Amino acid sequence: MKTEDSIFLQALNKKPLSTPPIWYMRQAGRYMPEYRAVRKNFKNFLDMCKNADVCCELAMQPINAFNLDVAILFSDILTIPDAMGLGVQFLEGEGPVFKNPIKTSKDVMDIPAFDPDKLSYVYKAVSNIKSELPKNIPLIGFSGSPWTLAAYSIEGKSSKSFEFTKNFIKHNEKEAHIFLNKLTDACFIYLKKQVEAGADVIQIFDSWANLLTKKDYETYSLIYIKSLISKLKNDPLTSNIPVILFAREPEFSCNEMIESQADCLSLYWNTKNVDLKFLSGKVALQGNLNPEILLQADSVIKKETNRILDKFKDYQGYIFNLGHGITPNISPDKIRLLTDHIRSR
Ligand code: CP3
Repeated sequence: MKTEDSIFLQALNKKPLSTPPIWYMRQAGRYMPEYRAVRKNFKNFLDMCKNADVCCELAMQPINAFNLDVAILFSDILTIPDAMGLGVQFLEGEGPVFKNPIKTSKDVMDIPAFDPDKLSYVYKAVSNIKSELPKNIPLIGFSGSPWTLAAYSIEGKSSKSFEFTKNFIKHNEKEAHIFLNKLTDACFIYLKKQVEAGADVIQIFDSWANLLTKKDYETYSLIYIKSLISKLKNDPLTSNIPVILFAREPEFSCNEMIESQADCLSLYWNTKNVDLKFLSGKVALQGNLNPEILLQADSVIKKETNRILDKFKDYQGYIFNLGHGITPNISPDKIRLLTDHIRSR
């Protein structure tokens, strides 16, 4: 079977299917004992991401364990700020920490031009995974959204409310836009290189969409996502590559988010009032089981999954996924149960 015939690409092309394709955000990760066995050989998470053979092994783990319909590149969204010299480290129990975050307007001006060759380890991982995958399993490449990458780079770490970042963009509007433009260009080149190396689909993660008011979301995030997708759609190499957009609780509705020109919207778990009638024929949809449901009894998981499957039953272009990533406390048995349940319906 050719990659074009995969049920995932068919769903992205809004074809009717009797069973939706299945994959899970963060399907490779700490919840898997196989992952933890590899992870313990590396002190720094990014060092592990820089080893293309290991990335290939990690991306294949959930495919082999659960027979999923799609693989996702094993890497992280913070490779771009790391390549820009901001010194990304992942500290135990703390998440990402930047050695050289953006603290002043001058720091923005001092960022060197993005050198895509610094991330050749990512493109190597893509081609390794691609050659390992069966032909009918497509590979998703990804990047963060410009805004989400800017938020981490300015805050310098993960945070609940990103107060420093909000304050920075308010007082350094011009430099914030210069930085967002630099990140948009970097994301475009980076994603194009992933496609060159074999990625079949692209997902953009706007994981910090929820930080901004509606007006600011438009100004600081959506405009740059639109620009990134339009660059991809206007380049002969990437114009036919489907783009999935995940945004966490944006102030904009799905009806408005389709203006991004994304081919598929990945719904956060609490997304309400999805206007299936309006969206039908315009965009594919992916999601959106609350990952926390996977901590509950099997009967609860099945019930909640049925509710979602019933909702999207007649929607042409539906992909089963979670409404955010699998967390480390979820048992692989629950992932197996969920996958089997969807396929047995
Ligand atoms: O199967 C996969 O999805 C694996 C590839 C992948 C990772 N991160 C590996 C990872 C992908 C697609 C990501 C995306 C990512 N990274 C996002 C967007 C998705 C989302 O959750 O909203 C974000 C915001 C990040 C940034 C990031 N990376 C954080 C905040 C953290 C630390 C907290 C956490 O969730 O672990 C990471 C580390 C990270 N990225 C791990 C993995 C497997 C765990 C690192 C470890 O093993 O120590």
